[in-house]
Amino acid sequence: MTPVSDIIRRRFSCRSYENKPLDDNLLRTFRQAVEASARGLFGNTPRFVLLEMDELPRDAWKKLGTYGVIQNARLYIAGMIRPAPMATVDYGYCKEKLILKATELGLSTCWLGGTFAISAFGRAAGMRRDELMPTVSPVGYAAGRRSLTERLLRGFAGSDHRLPWPELFFRGNAATPLPVEAAGPYAEALENVRLGPSASNKQPWRIICDPKQGAFSFYLSRSAGYRHLRDVSLQEIDMGIALCHFDLTVRELGLAGIWRQEEPPAGIKSWEYVAGWRAEGK
Ligand SMILES: Cc1cc2nc3c(=O)[nH]c(=O)nc-3n(C[C@H](O)[C@H](O)[C@H](O)COP(=O)(O)O)c2cc1C
Repeated sequence: MTPVSDIIRRRFSCRSYENKPLDDNLLRTFRQAVEASARGLFGNTPRFVLLEMDELPRDAWKKLGTYGVIQNARLYIAGMIRPAPMATVDYGYCKEKLILKATELGLSTCWLGGTFAISAFGRAAGMRRDELMPTVSPVGYAAGRRSLTERLLRGFAGSDHRLPWPELFFRGNAATPLPVEAAGPYAEALENVRLGPSASNKQPWRIICDPKQGAFSFYLSRSAGYRHLRDVSLQEIDMGIALCHFDLTVRELGLAGIWRQEEPPAGIKSWEYVAGWRAEGK
């Protein structure tokens, strides 16, 4: 078993793929993971399908239109949810598990929330009337060399950078940065949140914690003008990804705890409370 921290470090948004099909066994293993039923931390059950582009006629394939951003991908994960409280967060949580599974299997991926033709993907995936398709993701072998579009996109989004700890993690209140040393056994889980992918690399996750008590409150610091794209908030998906990285890491480290939505402490005007994790028995 590869440690989750290694898998998280290995993942990156891949936009240029090798033009070759997946190994049969690998495809079977990954398909099983994608098609297994998924349940998020707050009870929502997004569903995922794996779309093979070879099975679609060439013109339908073209209509999938990822606007020249994604090159040579033959396989896509498409995900669907029914709107409900915390559904978008649960979607991010469940889909990131699949992204990390692909990474563990040696495959590359890219979250796509803005640049795909939803009607063509929706039809190919059998999307129902009461469902939304917040994102799709290509899956495949990374090409040896990144395309020019890919290099430019990474530059615009500042994809190789992440905010430092003092801007993301706080102790007791929103004004006191949490020093790494004070995070104790939770430092690795927080670092894995920091390394997560987010739409346009905005990194909207903020955490106020009390590591001694094992209490962590997750907040969303929304970027202005980035509220909703096609009925879903991409930044709520980012929060689901953060919860996923935290959850998988604490589990692997044997730190037991529970997620719940509590009454958020008053007084943090610019952030939205999302959820909290508390060590068991505290
Ligand atoms: C919810 C979500 C939506 C995204 N949508 C797109 C997209 O539409 N197009 C794209 O090229 N990258 C997209 N990305 C990828 C981000 O730009 C990328 O994760 C970020 O720049 C960090 O780079 P990294 O994933 O290589 O670490 C998306 C990421 C997330 C989490």
